[in-house]
Amino acid sequence: MNNGKTFIVTGAASGIGAETCRLLKEQGATVIGVDRNETGNADQFFRADLGDPASIDALVAQLPEGADGLANIAGVPPTMAAETVLKVNLYGLQRLTFGLVPKLADGASIANLASLAGFGWPNAVDQVKRTMDLSLEDDVASFCEKEGLNAAEGGRSYFLSKEALIVWTLQNRWTWRERDITMNCISPGPVDTPILGDFLQTLGKRAEEDRKHMDRPGTPQDVAPVVAFALSEHAKWFRGANLTVDGGMSGHILSNIHQL
Ligand SMILES: NC(=O)c1ccc[n+]([C@@H]2O[C@H](COP(=O)([O-])OP(=O)(O)OC[C@H]3O[C@@H](n4cnc5c(N)ncnc54)[C@H](O)[C@@H]3O)[C@@H](O)[C@H]2O)c1
Repeated sequence: MNNGKTFIVTGAASGIGAETCRLLKEQGATVIGVDRNETGNADQFFRADLGDPASIDALVAQLPEGADGLANIAGVPPTMAAETVLKVNLYGLQRLTFGLVPKLADGASIANLASLAGFGWPNAVDQVKRTMDLSLEDDVASFCEKEGLNAAEGGRSYFLSKEALIVWTLQNRWTWRERDITMNCISPGPVDTPILGDFLQTLGKRAEEDRKHMDRPGTPQDVAPVVAFALSEHAKWFRGANLTVDGGMSGHILSNIHQL
């Protein structure tokens, strides 16, 4: 499916990013991995802290021209400080993407790893808009303080970061249409990776409720093919879409909301 293409994959050292590297290579693509932790999962590796503007800018300068796609997979769980969650999951991802677009090939695809945690964005539009007014250069720590995100139980910073990512993806459905560059996001339900325990810890009872309805948590092998599809030629008419891969969880929530 992706034979002969070159893709940049962030979060390459673990979980969904690691499996995406493996699958893309199996499909015949060349993979450039990015992570804060060294890894041999990709054909070429660049270390960067995707929550730090200087590190992102240095990475953009180093990355080669002409890649066919960018998979923004790196992310941190809600057990981290709210400032870190917003910086890595949202503002850093945005900075890397905007920085890299001029270097991507025409017709490239961008795939953002959002989450089922972002499902509720239509009910949080005002807070999402306030969040989107900031960038990595701004005082994110004070914003988190003002929004009460540090004290918020249940990992609100994580939910907000993913809600904003889904909205940002929507907003950029046609931003690079003249160059035929598309951007979509993928929203998995709970996936068995090293950060699953962090989610369960933060979500407490809510996670237990979710688990009652799930047959099993997802695996990186459930999610990576959807990322590979979003990066491929086959997804060319998807723009600003949110591809859910969650064992039916979002369908279950929607059915409950609408009493179907
Ligand atoms: N595991 C789940 O249940 C789940 C569910 C939905 C969405 N997601 C999302 O999927 C993505 C991948 O998560 P995962 O479950 O594979 O977790 P993971 O912890 O296995 O992988 C995350 C990777 O991101 C890297 N990373 C974190 N912060 C970084 C930084 N500042 N700079 C560079 N690299 C950094 C880590 O080193 C790690 O290799 C995340 O965006 C996460 O929010 C995960």
